[in-house]
Amino acid sequence: MDLTASFLLLCLIWACFHLLNSNSRRRRSAKLPPGPYPFPIIGNILHFGPNPHQTVTKLSKIYGPLMHLRLGSIDTIVASSPEMAKEILQTHHQAFPLRSNTAATRAFDHHATSVAFLPIGDQWRNLRKICKEHMFSNQRLQANEGLRQEKLQKLVQYIQECCVNGRTVDIGHAAVVTSLNLMSNTVLSVDSADYNTCQELEDIICRCMRVWGSPNLGDYFGFLGLFDPQGIKREAEFCVGKLLAMFDSIIDQRVEASRNSQARKTDLLEVLLEISDGNQAELTRNEMKHLFVDLFVAGVDTTSGTVEWVMTELLRNPHVMSKLKTEVRTVLGANKQIEESDISKLPYLQAVIKEAFRYHPSGPFITRVKDGNDLQIKKYVIPKNALILINIWATGRDPSIWPNPDSFEPERFLDTEIDVKGHHFELLPFGAGRRICPGMPLAYRMVHLIVASLVQNFDWKLEPGVAPEDVDLSEKLGISLHKAIPLKAVPTKP
Ligand code: HEM
Repeated sequence: MDLTASFLLLCLIWACFHLLNSNSRRRRSAKLPPGPYPFPIIGNILHFGPNPHQTVTKLSKIYGPLMHLRLGSIDTIVASSPEMAKEILQTHHQAFPLRSNTAATRAFDHHATSVAFLPIGDQWRNLRKICKEHMFSNQRLQANEGLRQEKLQKLVQYIQECCVNGRTVDIGHAAVVTSLNLMSNTVLSVDSADYNTCQELEDIICRCMRVWGSPNLGDYFGFLGLFDPQGIKREAEFCVGKLLAMFDSIIDQRVEASRNSQARKTDLLEVLLEISDGNQAELTRNEMKHLFVDLFVAGVDTTSGTVEWVMTELLRNPHVMSKLKTEVRTVLGANKQIEESDISKLPYLQAVIKEAFRYHPSGPFITRVKDGNDLQIKKYVIPKNALILINIWATGRDPSIWPNPDSFEPERFLDTEIDVKGHHFELLPFGAGRRICPGMPLAYRMVHLIVASLVQNFDWKLEPGVAPEDVDLSEKLGISLHKAIPLKAVPTKP
């Protein structure tokens, strides 16, 4: 049988399967949450579009806070209120043990070892424990603060050079380089990015972030997955393979260095090597490498994207920038470099960053997958194996929760108890429940440090001819939600 005939046969089998499936769906549909009618075969894919968080927010206004869509062959439930988020992430959390796996996350069996994609179980719990106790505890992060201080100085030096040369700064790029180096020094004591040239590790991590964030038709239509029409599986295999090999070589060099009794580092790799030396069963080398892939891919784009949105809002809202500048320069003075312990003395900075998390969450959706049984929430059935999208982008802009939701007002957070640690379901930039972001303590430090350093040391203007109200806010969804048009700004010395 040639390729075309095989393809047609597969289509036929799939169409029959879909017909049977849609019959059973019809039998059940009375109890499913409401939603737009799905087209045959493609379902509601066309309702999704390139910015699905925006389109489903509009649909939720019609169909309510619990909505059903069909993406190709996948039942999808969109939850868009704090009440529904709480039902899924807290009340019924045991029924949603998984985050969705895609062809890209299955490259090199990453999903089978990854803290981000394993189902909740012993292996996942062990990796989470290692993250919590040995990597992101206050004590550990304090021990390697010096590594991050050095990288912040590099950022300030780079912007200083731009001032001297009258160069515009691409804030997103500066934030990626800084976040990558803050991360790679905290984890491995190596620089992985440079402000002026693109290094291999930076290139591969950025490609990996892109490919994990790209929608893949093969994930929605099982039979297309075999053909990998967008080349996503191939690209993911290339990137994850390359990252694993690079981490392998860094680990080899470290093991060799400690054999030669060179001075011990204070980074996370050192801690993990101690753990796996003590007990291989607790952490294998393979798990260590996949953990690094997760940390870099989950940690860099989210952090740098947040910094870019914060700076965008500061430049769009000069009165907020001016208030923040006054606070940072009064508390820190002109020359002292910010330390992590200073963050608690900067309440307006904290409010600015919470406001950016509300209006521009890095991940517009928190995702889960329903286990193998149907579940009733309120009067609706959540079908087994359904993909769950908790739309925190919609919650952050809901006028019934936030007065003037489209206005950037950090003041709304000055006199409230609301924090980002997953207890307040109206503000969940780091998720909630057992799968809440384990890197939050590091991310929190990195975002505050970078923004404070930019505002303390420099005055910022938009490019000539661009007024604050003209700054573009359009979004592009990858692994996190980015500015579609990069923010360019001109620094000067105060
Ligand atoms: C501003 C920066 C960051 C934001 C906004 C963010 C946000 C998130 C969100 C929303 C989730 C999903 C939580 C859930 O499903 O309930 C998550 C998961 C995760 N994040 Fe972060 N993150 C950030 C930085 C980091 C950093 C710096 C690291 C590591 C160095 C990291 C590592 C992870 C990992 C490994 C997971 C998967 C956890 C699991 O499934 O058990 N993140 N993050």
